[in-house]
Amino acid sequence: MTYKVLVLKGDGIGPEVVGEALQVLRVVTREAAVDIEFKEGVAGGHALDLHGSPLPDNVLAQARDADAILLGAVGGPKWDDPRAEKRPEQALLTLRKELGLFANVRPVRGFRELAGSSPLKPEIINNVDLVVIRELTGGIYYGRPSERREGKNGREAIDTCIYTEAEITRVLRYAFELARERRKRLTSVDKANILATSRLWREIAMALSAEFKDVNFENQLVDSMSMHLIRRPRDFDVVVTENMFGDILTDEASVLAGSMGLLPSASLGEDLNSAGFRVGLYEPIHGSAPDIAGRDEANPLAAILSGAMLLEHSLGLKAEAELILQAVEAVVRDGYRTRDLGGGSGARLIGCKAMGRTVRERIESLQPGA
Ligand code: IPM
Ligand code: MG
Repeated sequence: MTYKVLVLKGDGIGPEVVGEALQVLRVVTREAAVDIEFKEGVAGGHALDLHGSPLPDNVLAQARDADAILLGAVGGPKWDDPRAEKRPEQALLTLRKELGLFANVRPVRGFRELAGSSPLKPEIINNVDLVVIRELTGGIYYGRPSERREGKNGREAIDTCIYTEAEITRVLRYAFELARERRKRLTSVDKANILATSRLWREIAMALSAEFKDVNFENQLVDSMSMHLIRRPRDFDVVVTENMFGDILTDEASVLAGSMGLLPSASLGEDLNSAGFRVGLYEPIHGSAPDIAGRDEANPLAAILSGAMLLEHSLGLKAEAELILQAVEAVVRDGYRTRDLGGGSGARLIGCKAMGRTVRERIESLQPGA
């Protein structure tokens, strides 16, 4: 059996961190029962420069054909003109929508050794272990109309937030099921005191909670949730929310882990791939960090951990995914740090390539038969 993985390195530090993740995936699956064929495609600003489109048609076709996609990051100041019609970020939005990747899974776990890299107090973030499920193919990101126009009093602009019952139900159901496998706590985040979409969301969530009686369910408003998340993060297990609230809350949640450079994500659809698992797109939650691109300073751990999520969720290679996790934990425990993770006593400051290599060496020493 050969599985197809499409690799979209993207812009900025994307190629550097994905390059390391790819090598890790090769090493960890060397003895696996399946073969993985990695194919490269272009996406984002890089694709815009080369082909005039952030996601050329043939790359979208490759994505549809793949069992999973690994992506670096897209965007950068070069393509930031607010009046530009084509933007790198459209590559991501199109992939998410066209592949139906409605559930964005963003796990946040604090490494005890890295508590010092967070501006939050260690006693608040130690042992944090939560997952944010962000709805990814609806809401204000996709609602129409979304445009700028001439109004009676000059220029105006409009965006539309719209959700259907089916869109809300499937992501909530995914979150309830995940909570059931974890610590059985689910927090649904909305703005039901103001928004109609949120009131529909809450109504459906309440109805589903009757079906999942074993899950301890609560609703939170997004504004107070943004405060609870950094004041008492250990109280949360699974958090589910709509597209834009999830975008904002997950950047906030990344502070709990010490660095954005540590957080992987999976975007999953309903369709199954040739391996019988969910089709998925895997990417670090950090951006393209153009300021440090090409300097071998980026932290490849989020990309490497995204690779682990890919193995687990789309290819069913749980043991291999676990091995990557163990290796990353060991490397962090041993004091290896990229610049974003800060120094501290006993830290060994290394670059992107060396971090990738150190993780691979650790995998080799952990591999059965080593
Ligand atoms: C994210 C990013 C994207 C988003 C951008 C790059 C389009 O911020 O994945 O969180 O807003 O969804
Ligand atoms: Mg974001």
